[in-house]
Amino acid sequence: MAATQDGKQKENSDQNFDYMFKLLIIGNSSVGKTSFLFRYADDSFTSAFVSTVGIDFRVKTVYRNDKSIKLQIWDTAGQERYRTITTAYYRGAMGFILMYDITNEESFAAVQDWSTQIKTYSWDNAQVILVGNKCDMEEERVVSVDSGRLLAEQLGFEFFETSAKDNINIKQTFESLVDVICDKMADSLESNPAESTGTPTAKLGDGAAPLQQSECSC
Ligand code: GTP
Ligand code: MG
Repeated sequence: MAATQDGKQKENSDQNFDYMFKLLIIGNSSVGKTSFLFRYADDSFTSAFVSTVGIDFRVKTVYRNDKSIKLQIWDTAGQERYRTITTAYYRGAMGFILMYDITNEESFAAVQDWSTQIKTYSWDNAQVILVGNKCDMEEERVVSVDSGRLLAEQLGFEFFETSAKDNINIKQTFESLVDVICDKMADSLESNPAESTGTPTAKLGDGAAPLQQSECSC
């Protein structure tokens, strides 16, 4: 499908793309969601902690089979007091990065609750990747790789350990999330070709952010 061109190019927001995927990064405060996004979008990192207020987003374009996919990546505040605001953005999200901090047991224990939030507020087929961040801090590790992997298996999510600081597995996490979303869309079109008329994408696209309707075959 051709991209719509209304001539109004927003700053940092190229309108020339074939598909748009809305993604959310969620998890407890201080696990590294903003750092993760900054590393991916700007290849930058700061050790200063500025807790996110509400929600913010960045865009980044990736390519699959000669098609451009614009990722609209929402960075949510982990603090409880912003929960009402942030969960309003779950609707229409096609993918989630659910993050904990491998040096923070509480953030790992909260994963189940975050998963329930996804089920409650998002589209049924939203894809999720569980991420254990700060894997550069091996000496302070309190959550083993195996515990993370096991929990991901139980929840049916893919799993990565990452470091925003040392740039470990950041790009791979996003690439993997895009791949599973593409696979899921291709599967759903195969099993129900009638959906290619737009029904499922209408579901995908009725989120808080404007989404391009698409028939992804990537
Ligand atoms: P909220 O906005 O409150 O939800 O927090 P957040 O999840 O966005 O955390 P943020 O990215 O602001 O990072 C919190 C702190 O952890 C900051 O001091 C970061 O520098 C640090 N941090 C983030 N990622 C890493 C990492 O991979 N390794 C190390 N060592 N520190 C990290
Ligand atoms: Mg933040």
